[in-house]
Amino acid sequence: MRVPLMAGNWKMYKTQGEAAKFVAEFVPLIEDVSGVEAALCPPFTALAATAEALRGSGVSLGAQDCFWEEQGAYTGQVAPKMVVDAGCKYVIIGHSERRGRFGQVPGDWTPQVRALFGDNDATVNRKAKTALAAGLTPIICMGETADERDRGETDTIVRRQLAGALEGVPAEQVASLVIAYEPVWAIGTGRTCAASEANRVIGLIRAAVRETFGAAPGAGIRIQYGGSVKPDNAAEIMRQPEIDGALVGGASLKPADFAAIVAAGAARAARM
Ligand code: PGA
Repeated sequence: MRVPLMAGNWKMYKTQGEAAKFVAEFVPLIEDVSGVEAALCPPFTALAATAEALRGSGVSLGAQDCFWEEQGAYTGQVAPKMVVDAGCKYVIIGHSERRGRFGQVPGDWTPQVRALFGDNDATVNRKAKTALAAGLTPIICMGETADERDRGETDTIVRRQLAGALEGVPAEQVASLVIAYEPVWAIGTGRTCAASEANRVIGLIRAAVRETFGAAPGAGIRIQYGGSVKPDNAAEIMRQPEIDGALVGGASLKPADFAAIVAAGAARAARM
């Protein structure tokens, strides 16, 4: 039985004080919700404060990225054990915004500037392995851009990203992972992927996991949908049999909105 995971990715929003205020409002709203796991992924600087505010709530904490080395002279990087130390269970890895794959960016973001967002399948693979070794559960993101979808490349891109991310990861670890299928064109745009199409691609990801790693990882791995999930479309998304949760950006910034989305995950859990 896969417990739906409804995770909020706060991206570059919220100070420590704002995070604590969110938690104080959010936790009472989901008190009676069961059968679903909620997680918050604040920026690094608010992790410890959010962990403190969440204590005893049952809501999990995640980081938005981590590096693949345990320690060293890597200015600005954050090691997996540091996010564990801050209270994290999850870490988002390979979000399209970390791969430099945005829907739209300001015109003066030249290729040189965009190179800052340097994740690719090889770095995602390294990050996933070191995160797992540190005891974290990676939420590995993948998805096609609008151009790739228009060219009919969605399935190929997603299969390639999956194979690259999981290369050399032992089958028993794959079963405990989380994948987030996030079409780049649906992120932050208000354009959701049709629930049936998200279900199709997620089914394809699950089939690829089964082929490569076996039946148990295929059945056990949780695969979320992400991209403009809102209170008014969450129920339809969560009605899809292959979709095990949501990775939510904009709508996770408001306690009432995110609580409604978590409740949609609970409704799905109740049906299973
Ligand atoms: P969005 O972001 O919900 O704001 O579209 C989703 C994500 O990037 O994880």
